[in-house]
Amino acid sequence: MNTLYTDNFPHMSPVWGRIFNFVAERAEGSYIYTTDGKKLLDFTCGIGVTNTGHCHPKVVEAVREQAGNFLHAQANIVIHKPMLQLIEELRKITPPSIDGFFFSNSGAEALEGAIKLARVATGRQNVIVFSGSFHGRTAGTMALTTSKTIYRAGFGPLPSGVFVSPFPYAFRLSMTEEQASEYALEQLEYLLASQTAPKETAAILVESILGEGGYVVPPTSFMKGLREICDKHGILLIFDEVQSGFGRAGKWFALEHFDVVPDIISAAKGIASGLPLSGVFSSLGIMKRWDVGSHGGTYGGNAVACAAGVATIRAMRDEKMLENTNERGIQLMTGLRKLQEEYPQIGDVRGKGLMIGTEFIVDNKPEKAKPMVKEIIHAAEENNLLLLSCGTYDNTIRWIPPLNVTSEQINDGLKIFEDVLKTTIQ
Ligand SMILES: Cc1ncc(COP(=O)(O)O)c(C=O)c1O
Repeated sequence: MNTLYTDNFPHMSPVWGRIFNFVAERAEGSYIYTTDGKKLLDFTCGIGVTNTGHCHPKVVEAVREQAGNFLHAQANIVIHKPMLQLIEELRKITPPSIDGFFFSNSGAEALEGAIKLARVATGRQNVIVFSGSFHGRTAGTMALTTSKTIYRAGFGPLPSGVFVSPFPYAFRLSMTEEQASEYALEQLEYLLASQTAPKETAAILVESILGEGGYVVPPTSFMKGLREICDKHGILLIFDEVQSGFGRAGKWFALEHFDVVPDIISAAKGIASGLPLSGVFSSLGIMKRWDVGSHGGTYGGNAVACAAGVATIRAMRDEKMLENTNERGIQLMTGLRKLQEEYPQIGDVRGKGLMIGTEFIVDNKPEKAKPMVKEIIHAAEENNLLLLSCGTYDNTIRWIPPLNVTSEQINDGLKIFEDVLKTTIQ
């Protein structure tokens, strides 16, 4: 027998806290097929990455073709066609003021770049982030990440110059959206008056929709308020669209929901359907403040990854995936809200497009719901549905199926979830 698949993987670093233990053979569309013959409905998309479904034929074809043409065309040395095509496609889906594009490999790397850019462009040092934020786990980005202490504990000292303001998390604050917005903006003004002077503040960094921190959509008034505060003080506004971008929230970028244009966008995950690619998008005026060669990387904007990015955007457009995201999102939200009526442990159902969270609470306490959510996720896997949790207390289930998921697959997922709730919640 091949011990590779049976010995509990002793040589994989245990730092990968594994949620599931199956070994994947292959994947197609909304399904993963395991080595022991299971077919799993995948509503995790590799944490919101495979937005066009697993192994979308057009993406696979583009990858195959590009792999035969040029694998690694290092960006300082070779200008390659897929990067130029990707920029052309991105210009059609980003706000017109965003006309400068830099590519890297991971979400965290994009955030590192965005912060460096904001600092050098403003000549200021400090950055404001929001509670519950997740921006990565590199030495720099862990200081920006406040969703869980596990991402920081033991790794100090953290880089300085990062200040944290409350996110308008209406449900957790027991406020209306507008009250939460007003409160969060007031606290931000207070931070600027008490801890980080505007003249020392380079950027305000916010996830367009809070991801790992609990799938919370900020009120439009809050996002507009951030823009106003930034404009007033010459602070740059950075929207982290790593998780919420590329159609996930029913628009090309979630920022379109708020009608607010940031100065810098960080993007990754869904950009290339699974190939490692990320980006910092801004105006050329801001991009020109970077000294030539002061930022970069060996692999950033890899030719095969860029080809996958081009194919991803075209497939999403040609196959009307945004429309599907909005329709399936309503279907999923409606189904989940129906279940919420039966199960008071589901405290909140929220989201945009196919970025939906169901927050569980017990005795009005999020931390008490953590074991329940863990049990639900394991029971769902036993019933061939893959789900993920999020939130500081891991008490929210995030629903992130592929954007071309079918109506039948959404119904299958809801049915499994309902059956699981029946057996796990007494
Ligand atoms: C909003 C957001 N920003 C940044 C990151 C970091 O991306 P990566 O894991 O590719 O470094 C993530 C990852 O989940 C994310 O959700």
